Parts: sequence; structure tokens; C-alpha cells
Amino acid sequence: MADHDYLLDNRNTQAARRFDALSALFDPVSLRQFAACGLAEGWRCWEVGAGGPALARMMAEQVGDTGHVLATDIDDSWAKAATSRNISVRRHDVVHDAPPDDRFDLIHARLVLVHLPERERALGHMVSALKPGGWLVVEDADPALQPLSCIDESGPEQALANKIRQGFRALLAKRGADIAFGRKLPRMFRQAGLADIAAEAYFPIALPPCQPLEMATIAMIRDELLSHGIATAEEIGQHLENVRAGKLDLSQPPMISVRGRKPL
Ligand SMILES: C[S@@+](CC[C@H](N)C(=O)[O-])C[C@H]1O[C@@H](n2cnc3c(N)ncnc32)[C@H](O)[C@@H]1O
Repeated sequence: MADHDYLLDNRNTQAARRFDALSALFDPVSLRQFAACGLAEGWRCWEVGAGGPALARMMAEQVGDTGHVLATDIDDSWAKAATSRNISVRRHDVVHDAPPDDRFDLIHARLVLVHLPERERALGHMVSALKPGGWLVVEDADPALQPLSCIDESGPEQALANKIRQGFRALLAKRGADIAFGRKLPRMFRQAGLADIAAEAYFPIALPPCQPLEMATIAMIRDELLSHGIATAEEIGQHLENVRAGKLDLSQPPMISVRGRKPL
């Protein structure tokens, strides 16, 4: 997928806010996965589709000076801030570019494959870059498991939030996202020959970072919502006001975290 096809384009000024909110919501989940893999000093890691700099920095703290983190993205403009002694940041397309020459102890991609029509190929590239015994952690949403923005649709504000969320999903699906993807990951890992596979879901119901995430996401897709007739300018303005005023218990779809390792 070319970067101009990606609905939530990193060139948008709201992208940094969105990455901060994603970090606040999901970094603790990813770090728990890394701990389960045994992430330790000296490990070589590849963070795929890094988005912002935060998670790469936390991985780098754990691998220390003897380890290294490579953070890649089709648009590395926000991740670049993480560049340091033990972090390199590179523009790289996980589908179309050859995997890095290095071999890794841990490779992680969060909320990346769900967007990529050629996700099997991307997974194959990541598996091929693992050391024997190295871990792959992939985390992706499964919005079809729970598609609502407000699970408790108690009034018109919640109904509007759900209508806009549904439109957002339709836009993502139109661009090739698989909105029932997360559930497929354990099977894909098994088919890729990985061992010690474990999967779990994390499901934010009404967590504080859901609010800035919603504000930034809606700002980024506003023009698309309008041009596809999903919501009027008034409805979008009203929804943003409802979010800002804290009237909504905003949910996110379950995110499925899967880990597995390349056999020795
Ligand atoms: C939803 S964001 C997730 C960012 C980050 N992983 C997180 O969870 O906070 C998806 C990221 O994947 C990147 N991306 C999309 N297609 C890609 C591709 N083919 N190769 C590498 N990165 C890609 C986007 O540029 C964006 O930064």
C-alpha cells in the first residue's frame, strides 16, 4: 500500500496527537507482551510501522547499550525523534521493501497489518527477519468483534458517536483494512511455522486516552467523512463538542496481541 493510500496519513498535523494517545492506551499492553517474551539487555529489536517515538524509546531502555532498536515506517517523520545511540529510525515499507539485513530477537508491529491488504506478505517478511528462537509480537484491532464507539448507546450523543465510528470503519475497509483481522493472527502465526503461540485481547471501555484519540482521529478523517456523506459538518462539530465536554464513554475495539517464536 502506498503511503498516500493510508487513511490516517502521518503527514497530517494531528498524527502526533494520535500517536501519543495510542501510546498512552496501548504501550503498557505491548510492554507486557515484551516481558512475556523475555525482552532483555543486548536484544536486537525491530519496531515495524512505529508511528511515534515513544515505544521504540522504551524498548531501547530495556535492551541497553549492548542492544539495538530499529524503528521503521513508510513515513518516519514522527518516529525520527527517537534516534539515539541505540535506536535507528528508517523509512521502510514492510510489504514492498526487502526486510533489513539484520536478524532480530524481537519484532513488533502494532495496528499496522490490519491496514495492509498484503498483510500475509508483510508477516512473511517479519518472520524471515527473526533469529532462530526470536519472538514476533503482532497486535491488531478486531473492530468487528465490537464495532461501537459507545457501548452503552443511551442517547442521541452516543448514537451520533456510533454512526461516525461506523463510517470510519467503512472508510478503513474501503482502503483495504480487514476489520475482522485480529482474530486471524494466531492462525497466521501457526501457518507461518511459529511456535509457543499465545494470544489475548485488551478492550478499553472508557479510558482517558480514548478522548484525545477520538479528537485526533476525527480531525484527521473529517474531509473524508464529509465527502462520503457519512456525517455533516454540524454533526462532526457536535460530536467533537460532546467528546470535549466528556459526555461520552468512548470505547476502542478489542486489540488482539499475539506472540510466537521462530523454532530453534
Ligand atoms: C495506526 S498507526 C500505528 C502506529 C504505532 N504502531 C502505534 O501502535 O502507535 C499505523 C502506522 O503504520 C505505518 N504504515 C502503514 N503502512 C505501512 C507499511 N506498508 N510499512 C510500514 N509502515 C506502515 C503508518 O505510517 C503508521 O505510522
